Amino acid sequence: MPITYENNTFHLTNNEVSYIFTILENKQLGHLYYGKKIKTKNTDNMLQLRSCVLAPSTFLNNLDFSLEVLKQEYPAYGTGDYRDPAFQLRNSEGNRITNFEYVSHCIYDGKKDIPGLPHTYASSSEATSLEVTLYDSLLDSTLILIYSIFEHTNSIVRSARFINNSKKDIFIERMMSCSVDFYDYDYEMIQLDGAWARERHIHTRKLQYGIQSIASTRGTSSAMHNPFFALKRTHTTENSGEVYGFNFVYSGNFLGQVQVDNYDVSRIMMGIHPFEFEWCLEPGESFHSPEVVMTYSDQGLSGMSQQFHDLYRNNLMRGPYKDKTRPILINNWEATYFQFNEESILNIASKAKGLGVELFVLDDGWFGKRNDDTSSLGDWYENLEKLPNGIKGLASKINDLGLKFGLWFEPEMVNEASNLYLEHPQWAIHSPGRNRSYGRNQFVLDFSNPEVVEHIYQTMYQTISSANIEYIKWDMNRNITEACSLLLPAKKQKEFFHRYILGVYHLYEKLITAFPNILFESCASGGARFDAGMLYYAPQAWTSDDTDAIERLKIQTGTSLVYPLVSMGSHVSGIPNHQVSRKTSLDMRANVAYFGTFGYELDVNRMPIEEQEEVRKQICFFKEHRELIQFGDFYRLEKGERDLYSWMVVSKDKKKAILGCYKVLATPNPALKKVSLQGLHPDYEYSCTNRKGTYYGDELMHCGFQYEIQYTGSRAADNYQGQCHPGIDEGDFNSYIYVLEAIIKDA
Ligand code: GLA
Repeated sequence: MPITYENNTFHLTNNEVSYIFTILENKQLGHLYYGKKIKTKNTDNMLQLRSCVLAPSTFLNNLDFSLEVLKQEYPAYGTGDYRDPAFQLRNSEGNRITNFEYVSHCIYDGKKDIPGLPHTYASSSEATSLEVTLYDSLLDSTLILIYSIFEHTNSIVRSARFINNSKKDIFIERMMSCSVDFYDYDYEMIQLDGAWARERHIHTRKLQYGIQSIASTRGTSSAMHNPFFALKRTHTTENSGEVYGFNFVYSGNFLGQVQVDNYDVSRIMMGIHPFEFEWCLEPGESFHSPEVVMTYSDQGLSGMSQQFHDLYRNNLMRGPYKDKTRPILINNWEATYFQFNEESILNIASKAKGLGVELFVLDDGWFGKRNDDTSSLGDWYENLEKLPNGIKGLASKINDLGLKFGLWFEPEMVNEASNLYLEHPQWAIHSPGRNRSYGRNQFVLDFSNPEVVEHIYQTMYQTISSANIEYIKWDMNRNITEACSLLLPAKKQKEFFHRYILGVYHLYEKLITAFPNILFESCASGGARFDAGMLYYAPQAWTSDDTDAIERLKIQTGTSLVYPLVSMGSHVSGIPNHQVSRKTSLDMRANVAYFGTFGYELDVNRMPIEEQEEVRKQICFFKEHRELIQFGDFYRLEKGERDLYSWMVVSKDKKKAILGCYKVLATPNPALKKVSLQGLHPDYEYSCTNRKGTYYGDELMHCGFQYEIQYTGSRAADNYQGQCHPGIDEGDFNSYIYVLEAIIKDA
């Protein structure tokens, strides 16, 4: 049984992991253990009952029972625990003290949906769920803690729900989706931080006393911090040691924090950011928090990532592309920006088709009077000056070339210079009487207002249903300011941010229901809303507006900590690169972009014939190997140490692998560099492209694989005379791709 209940104690387990909590003497829930699978007889050893001077005790004559000292499952405010609580409620008299006591529980196969919110899903054989019901009699309110443990990944998913059974309003001031108390603080916290064009860089810090946190209060999950963090032991590496990963299935404001207390306990929690959040639960209403996915691995960071990847590919993404390799696309943004017409688009598309591309995506600038970023957002009807045959005509011409057609939208936005704004200025988020701040010359529409969402749906519906559109890029290019709802009463104003993102989810759901075969790619100025919430609706996301191959090494490495390669939009763009002006070879750019959905973002017509031929070969290569890349097990072998990156994907049956090795800056005459491959079958004999002979898996994993990309000066004289040999050890920004295949001999 994956979930058992014995001696007042719940034990969630699969082959690898145990998560244990108990009903305490005060009938609240105490946390006992989370980690490697264990067997338990009794829980005395796990429960830390002890009296500490000054620690408040719940009972007279039982100093050992103190909430300040005990580890808890969903800690409350104000009754002896001075750490941050998982939740805080306020009743209509202003009182904030609660007492939710255990009432009952139920265990069932599978997993229930959370209406209106993105969530993981599972069949009855994939997961088992537990719901623990607690009740506060004074508040006349119920709290349900919901857990699901997955059979084949070490993932436990948590959420919580409050129900107001009383006859008066109750205000939720704070509601985390999960809280876990760890015994000690000998951990490092890994987080993914950045800004526009440099999203999800990996940072690691040793836990310290006090609070360390990551957060967003911008209305999106943000480029500043991804809603993910991990706790790893200091000796944990990519491939060994313990790590716990926490990822929020949500795209709005969030808080992820670790609080190390006065007894060295690390309390982690993750949920909607309590800043600017409050929810008024009217009599009879309930509120369900978004989910947090918790993974445990004793196989290092790669183990953690693979669990996230498998879970998200199998139990989060939906739609016809869930298990399908993704079409190779060409996007016109960096090729034309706003300056295009039907002819120039068709020129790019037909050339691209000839080289093997499968999908053409028309980016920003096709609608209203949009010739730059100052106007027309909200006016989702085609610009007939640029596209005399409309979207319908263009799509059918693109289809006639043998390509699918995709279109860019930015549904949540409006420009002041637009018909939509002229007609409905009050739909742009603003606080009456106050200045409206601009971001990229635009305002955010009030998606907390169902009328606005419905209007945008109708407008998009018309365009989408008028043409054969098979892909949509949904962009979101500014954060929210002057948050305010003109509809909500004063007591509900702080519901705004959550209601906004519920509106976004609602529009997504309506569109994917109306157009079930469209492939959606989410985007927010690149990767500012790359999160698990979005992946529920759009199974791929534009990873970053930075398309430079070298910058992408950092960005895609960080993104891969949590999100699978099949979700990562990655394109080859032109040089000098538009974000950093760097020049890298076409080979290097493709070798990086292969580890994702793969596509192009340049004008192929402007490439010399030899480069076009190279593009043709790249596309053939990717078509041959994309199944492996997008659905295999991913390993980060090098993460920038000594200016080297290497990535590897191994097929589930271990018969095939692909290895990408990348050098950033050349070092003269370096030490011999080898990299230990991962995930191969130790006994299989592998052939390797660009290498003679065969190698056993164990040799490649333990003795290592020697890098080609190192300059030793052996051809210094040739180089000096300007006779550089392309390929081996030539300069900065060099890369190699190897394909390994097991030679399975007949028995
Ligand atoms: C954002 C996106 C880009 C492009 C532009 C268009 O920056 O991230 O890929 O679509 O908007 O305005």
